[in-house]
Amino acid sequence: MMTRRRPNRRETFNMMGIDTVVLPVAGNGSRMRPATDAIAKEMLPIYDTPLLQFALSEAAAAGARRIVLVTRASKPGFDKYIDHLAAQPDSFLAGVDVQFVEQDEPLGLGHAVLCARRCTLPGAIGVILPDDLILGEPALAEMAASFDPRRMKSLVAAQKVDRASVGSYGIFDIDGDDSIARVMPAHDLVEKPDPEKAPSQYAAVGRYVLAEEIWDQLERTGPGAGDEIQLTDAITALGGIHGFRFSGRRYDCGNKEGWFAATEAYRRSCLQSELTAAE
Ligand code: G1P
Repeated sequence: MMTRRRPNRRETFNMMGIDTVVLPVAGNGSRMRPATDAIAKEMLPIYDTPLLQFALSEAAAAGARRIVLVTRASKPGFDKYIDHLAAQPDSFLAGVDVQFVEQDEPLGLGHAVLCARRCTLPGAIGVILPDDLILGEPALAEMAASFDPRRMKSLVAAQKVDRASVGSYGIFDIDGDDSIARVMPAHDLVEKPDPEKAPSQYAAVGRYVLAEEIWDQLERTGPGAGDEIQLTDAITALGGIHGFRFSGRRYDCGNKEGWFAATEAYRRSCLQSELTAAE
């Protein structure tokens, strides 16, 4: 699991100062019904591990001292499970303060993130969308290590997708040549564009490092695509956008096929680790 390879927490924290990671978990998981009629989407297992555990572990690996879960009142509580994780010997949550806030209405991702504002520590924040599972190198830690607050207001995980799929994502309008750099400056992030009008095939996936100014910007952001308050609109308005090509492999666990592919991939890596350990 990711925790095994996480960088030294204190060292990472000092280097990048990302103290708070926000996890929006208020969604209703409609694409995973009927399973999500019984269990929160984030608690579905990827092979043997609840999806949420990957996000918590990745947040801790990025140096978080506080993790804020944005949930909704009617959703089964995550708190017992998190208490259980924190109570394990050598828990990756040791020294991490986990807090919960409620999003009363489903007004969009930007709104969900904004709900966390009053619980955050000063400085840049990280955001992980737990549906977007990234296996391999812990992506947020990689991004935090590349985040340069002198020239960036945001660093957003980027992945090239088929042109037919661009309408499901925030899409980068990249400055200059996109073919080489790992960090790609961009001047726009367009939420769910029409495939014919999409500025590129680079999609935002659910990892963000955001300068502290994002809070005031989110307060000023009105409804956008789908009549929702979009995180991408606030990021664009702030300027200083950068895409980041992460090393791991991403699975969209918000749909059945992505979830199944992730389960298979994680099972293979667990079995491989067992074999290696037995040698
Ligand atoms: C959200 C963001 C979108 C991003 C996507 C990544 O969309 O709004 O910009 O590309 O996550 O998974 P959602 O999947 O919530 O519709």
